[in-house]
Amino acid sequence: LTTTSRRRRHAFELPICLDRSIRNHGLQVHTALRSAIIDGLLRPQMKLPSSRSLAEQLGVRRNAIVAAYEHLFSDGLVEARHGAGTYVAAQLPARPSTTPPAQFKIAQGPRRAFALGNTHADAFLLRRLASNVRRRIATATDDQLGYGDPRGSEHLRTQIARHLAANRGIRCDPGCVVIVSGTQHGLRLCTDALLSPGDAVWMEDPGYYAARNTLETVGMKLVPVPVDAAGIVVASGLRSNPSAKAAYVTPSHQFPTGVTMSMARRVALLEWARSSKAWIMEDDYDSEFRFAGPPLTALAGLSGERVVYIGTFTKTLFAGLRLAYLVLPPGVVERVVLARAAQDRFPPHFMQDAVADLMSDGILAAHTRRMRSRYREARDALATALKNAAGGALRIAVPTQGLHMLAYLPNRLPKETAMHIREVADVETKLLSEMRINRRGPDGFILGFSGHDIKELNAAARRLGRAAKDHCGAADKMAR
Ligand SMILES: Cc1ncc(COP(=O)(O)O)c(C=O)c1O
Repeated sequence: LTTTSRRRRHAFELPICLDRSIRNHGLQVHTALRSAIIDGLLRPQMKLPSSRSLAEQLGVRRNAIVAAYEHLFSDGLVEARHGAGTYVAAQLPARPSTTPPAQFKIAQGPRRAFALGNTHADAFLLRRLASNVRRRIATATDDQLGYGDPRGSEHLRTQIARHLAANRGIRCDPGCVVIVSGTQHGLRLCTDALLSPGDAVWMEDPGYYAARNTLETVGMKLVPVPVDAAGIVVASGLRSNPSAKAAYVTPSHQFPTGVTMSMARRVALLEWARSSKAWIMEDDYDSEFRFAGPPLTALAGLSGERVVYIGTFTKTLFAGLRLAYLVLPPGVVERVVLARAAQDRFPPHFMQDAVADLMSDGILAAHTRRMRSRYREARDALATALKNAAGGALRIAVPTQGLHMLAYLPNRLPKETAMHIREVADVETKLLSEMRINRRGPDGFILGFSGHDIKELNAAARRLGRAAKDHCGAADKMAR
């Protein structure tokens, strides 16, 4: 072998290959060598070829190799030994893990019929929102590009205060409104500011699973309080734990049963909160969608003293917006703002202002009116299809408010029945039993109808109705 070919053979032993999509040759070499060192292909203390020989191997100029070696040197991945060449460093950082996380199920993907939290955002609305966002970014002041008020955009808070005064009977100063990234975030902020881990909290049973999840996660001791046709049974809460520090309720449209809290219960709940200095967390998530009768005054409209009102844009606009709000009693605004400083600021300013523009221009109100009739149509189609397919196997409670419907199974069926029917019907529905802390009472299906195509709702209703009929018929025969 001649000297040159001996040198070439030595150089060819380096197991690297260049990424030619990188324009700079020095960077190509650096990237390839860095990966080879970090991946353990080039061992610690191994001598690297001279710049001349590596340049020959890789077909690049020698100064590209020199630049790459210098870069690796400043990364701490190679060492230069005086007069003896360049070596892979003796001490290398631990190899970063490239193992993907273990497989786990994430509830996402295309939402199928009956999935909750779906809405319809039409092209007109989205175009207006997009143009508002674009304009808000293009004309942002220095202030709007900064951190700003931790309560969120004043424009949006003002619009919300006006909306609540006109529609929910709540009179509040925009200074008491705090913008959050969803109902659960609002709840968490309230528990951080107003409660302590271990505090007892009344929770409607059955109730909103996501709120239960949040409250449990932050260490609240949940006190299940049953719900009847007049809402949360306050007397039962008083018997179980009168000194609880808070109650989470959905008075306008109880989730999931759909009942409205009676005035007597509202008064009793407010009286309990006042006398025991407890907080009421009022989740008013879907009152914009009332299909019959006048809108009901919110608890916070009856007495704001001990009530934290939580509203959301998830139903009027869409869930991916992650925009909701709290209306706080004036005396606790500062505490909540201080608690927020430990968590986050607020959702992006531009989006808040863009949504506030939809409100001040009347676009959101018009969209809500259009969606109210669209969702009413979906509700009626679903109720009819389900009744026709299920015969008497399901008792359907057609709601006068909100975006989900309950279909009850007969009492005293084996507890897995609803799960089996759901599986056979292949529908994405939550079960009433999954919303209960105390697993007593009839089971049934919670059927979201907003934002789903009517054809898809009809087909899914037929599958669910038939599966319920088959199962209940079989259960009847077994009982006889
Ligand atoms: C009872 C209840 N509260 C609140 C929400 C909205 O939650 P968020 O504002 O986090 O989207 C929903 C959503 O479907 C709900 O069912």
